[in-house]
Amino acid sequence: MLEALNTPAPDKIIELMGLYAADTREDKLDLGVGVYKDAQGRTPIMHAVKAAEKRLWEEQTTKSYVALLGDTEFVEQMRGLIFGEAVPTDRIAGCQTPGGTGAVHQLFELIQRADPEASVWYSDPTWPNHPAMLAHLGIEAKTYRYFDAATCEVDFEGMLADLAGAKVGDVVLLHGCCHNPTGANPTLEQWRTLAELFARRGLVPMIDLAYQGFGDGIDSDVAGLRYMAGQVPEMLVAASCSKNFGLYRDRVGAAFAISSAPNLTPIARGNLASLNRMNFSFPPDHGAKTVAIILGDSGLRMDWVTELEGMRRGMLTLRQSFAEALRRATNSDRYDFVATHRGMFSRLGLTPEQVALLRSDHGIYMTGDSRINIAGLPAQGLDKLAAAIAAVE
Ligand code: LMR
Repeated sequence: MLEALNTPAPDKIIELMGLYAADTREDKLDLGVGVYKDAQGRTPIMHAVKAAEKRLWEEQTTKSYVALLGDTEFVEQMRGLIFGEAVPTDRIAGCQTPGGTGAVHQLFELIQRADPEASVWYSDPTWPNHPAMLAHLGIEAKTYRYFDAATCEVDFEGMLADLAGAKVGDVVLLHGCCHNPTGANPTLEQWRTLAELFARRGLVPMIDLAYQGFGDGIDSDVAGLRYMAGQVPEMLVAASCSKNFGLYRDRVGAAFAISSAPNLTPIARGNLASLNRMNFSFPPDHGAKTVAIILGDSGLRMDWVTELEGMRRGMLTLRQSFAEALRRATNSDRYDFVATHRGMFSRLGLTPEQVALLRSDHGIYMTGDSRINIAGLPAQGLDKLAAAIAAVE
């Protein structure tokens, strides 16, 4: 049986992690996978996480199963963190999932169950696992223009023109903030236009929220999402705690489905529970319980917000300094967008050949589309990095 298997196409981001690990050069630089790093290049465990884990260790009395929907307190806290007061709670069904990827997967399956005819529209470009999962599940997928390579901003006209081709009931996948891979994000005004379009055309927004708190702030990063949630009858949201709580390996995420009327909420909730049961049964508890403890305790929550704010501001400073270094190195302002983009990534606009040269000649690792992880930028080595980029241009 197993000899009939073909070798699957590698995920480019995971493949790059392997290449970087195998490189023996001491001065190699990892701007690849989206993992936060501090100035010393470490991915720290946040203070509030350590404190909450300690409390959990001391107080937890059983490792018996949680509920199929996960930890109720976690789901409720995440609902508040994401939606605030934007939607009546009796229209929101939520469940805990293994990471944000788990949430995206569960919601794709929910779409498939609810409307097998629905296509899912995703931005060109997007996180490569979006199209990969859609293809894996056999869901019809279509793309909309998103990124203007000349200005490195959102191609909003192109986006609207392409979405004009969507049919009633189609799902439009958006990044809640900090677009991955481009770093270019719609303005609040553009979110309003999209909300109006979706409501008028009967399109369902699905929002992948993997970086809340990494862009303009915890609440600012969901201002567009909250506005839209108040305008459309139905919405799906996949949230990740990997980045903003630094809980990558603990796999903490949540999936939410907003229904058009409260009587539909228990049905959506039942389907989320049943999808969990079909795919992995009970979600993992430790990381989610840790998040629930932090968000439910005013002191720990404040500690978490402060540390997250520090990480966010650090990335903004790196953006500013790197844009300046690139100005000096290239004697031009063509990389100024790095300073205005938000989130963990920016796409530099280099060719795959230039990206390959940076890797082979300079030990600098970024994904083939020239996406860089801002948190990986070396505060003390920005001029050297900018010079390498100028050298391969
Ligand atoms: C990334 O885009 O690098 C991150 O979201 C990590 C991943 O799982 O791909």
